[in-house]
Amino acid sequence: MHLPDYKEARTRDHREYNRIDFDFDPSLKDKYTGKSFHIKTYGCQMNEHDSEVIEAILVFLGFQKEEDYTKADLVLLNTCSIRENAHNKAFGMLGRLKHLKNENKNLIIGLCGCMAQESSVVEAIIRDYPFVNFVVGTHNMNELPTVIDKAIETNSQQIEVYSREGDLYEGLPVVRANSYKAYVNIIYGCDKFCTYCIVPYTRGRERSRKKEDILKEIDELIKDGYKEVTLLGQNVNAYGKDLYENYSLGDLLEEIALKNIPRIRFMTSHPWDFNDHMIEVIAKYPNIMPSVHLPVQSGSSRILKLMGRRYTRESYLELFHKIKDTVPGVCISTDIIVGFPGETEEDFQETMSLVKECKYDNAFTFIFSTREGTPACKLEDNTSQQEKEDRLYRLNEVVNEYFLENNKKLEGQVLRVMVEGVSEKKDMYYGYSETNKLINFTSPRELEPGEIVEVEIESAKTWSLDGRVR
Ligand code: 5AD
Ligand code: SF4
Repeated sequence: MHLPDYKEARTRDHREYNRIDFDFDPSLKDKYTGKSFHIKTYGCQMNEHDSEVIEAILVFLGFQKEEDYTKADLVLLNTCSIRENAHNKAFGMLGRLKHLKNENKNLIIGLCGCMAQESSVVEAIIRDYPFVNFVVGTHNMNELPTVIDKAIETNSQQIEVYSREGDLYEGLPVVRANSYKAYVNIIYGCDKFCTYCIVPYTRGRERSRKKEDILKEIDELIKDGYKEVTLLGQNVNAYGKDLYENYSLGDLLEEIALKNIPRIRFMTSHPWDFNDHMIEVIAKYPNIMPSVHLPVQSGSSRILKLMGRRYTRESYLELFHKIKDTVPGVCISTDIIVGFPGETEEDFQETMSLVKECKYDNAFTFIFSTREGTPACKLEDNTSQQEKEDRLYRLNEVVNEYFLENNKKLEGQVLRVMVEGVSEKKDMYYGYSETNKLINFTSPRELEPGEIVEVEIESAKTWSLDGRVR
């Protein structure tokens, strides 16, 4: 049994890690044919992509996908730790699974993802959730096949979670959720240690994949007809820093842009690592989408310092305007936390004034959530929950106004939209513009997912736009 340990997770050195080709134990192939699985994914795109790898591992073992979790033989929760409500959702689901297991003793329940890296979660599973068959951490997903096998064979709870990141696996199998757009990991982990954030502990230090391996994966995707790749990492702008003297995200983006792929996206960026070369490359190539997610977190330099963000309000705004002025038609989105410990009404007003200056195209807004083991836990926090909720409400009112105002400017324009499918009401198609806006539209002819069409925008809403194919 391996349990997670935060102290160990916190230690970082620059020891070499190995790049290993992922290999299956052939004796496990199709061992569980006839059994079904269901994966519940919480959290970010990184987790969504991990679930695509987990699915491929389960398919190798012989399991078949089941859309209805109540009918599956194995239910795996791929969890997120970022805020308390992500935790609550996963524990709520475990509660439902407990009932299911009372009816079906053979149900196999597993937990992986970021919560698996938290010692308090794993202790709770061992103590209070004996019906959970296995827990596997984010650093040793390669062991998933053997852990599942052992949990089933021995009928005992298996906990395999390493605190320190180990090797970086290449050649991981993947069952992609789409046939026209794909996620490609370029860097794992995060070294920034923002004081509120649990990610550096759950995902380990920054480890870039070799550019050759990334380019090879993208070549294969192009060969398979993919139209869009999203380069993924907790901080993609740090790409290459741990591997190369002189090769960064800008260089990687440029090499990918020169290939024959219509759409390249990347996320998430940290303002600290955003250099001029990256901005120039994004501006230069039409197949690099003019859409940048640039989390600000707060508009108050005092709070940014307490958050350990490494930039000030002024330097963020300088970068923001440089991107806006250099990349034609760029849309910038952001993340904002209100109610960080010690945030005063004046600090909050600085966030409000920054939002009014930036007029973001999209913003994800959150109330600060205490994450055990992070430095912000220890900061004094005397703002009431009601006040925090009020700040979030006031912030959302303002950001929503700008979403609508920005969208209104697009009325009458023609946007290039990648078709995703037919909307829930079945009367319209939907897809995303180059700047990542959700577009609902009609078309005189039948369209396929992945097609890129020109849509004339007829009316703007806060969260989406309506139009018709020209
Ligand atoms: N509380 C609230 N929001 C958080 N985020 C990260 N950690 C926390 C936390 N402890 C937000 C940040 C980040 C986004 C992914 O989640 O805004 O950019
Ligand atoms: Fe959640 Fe962060 Fe883990 Fe993604 S990396 S699943 S956002 S905790």
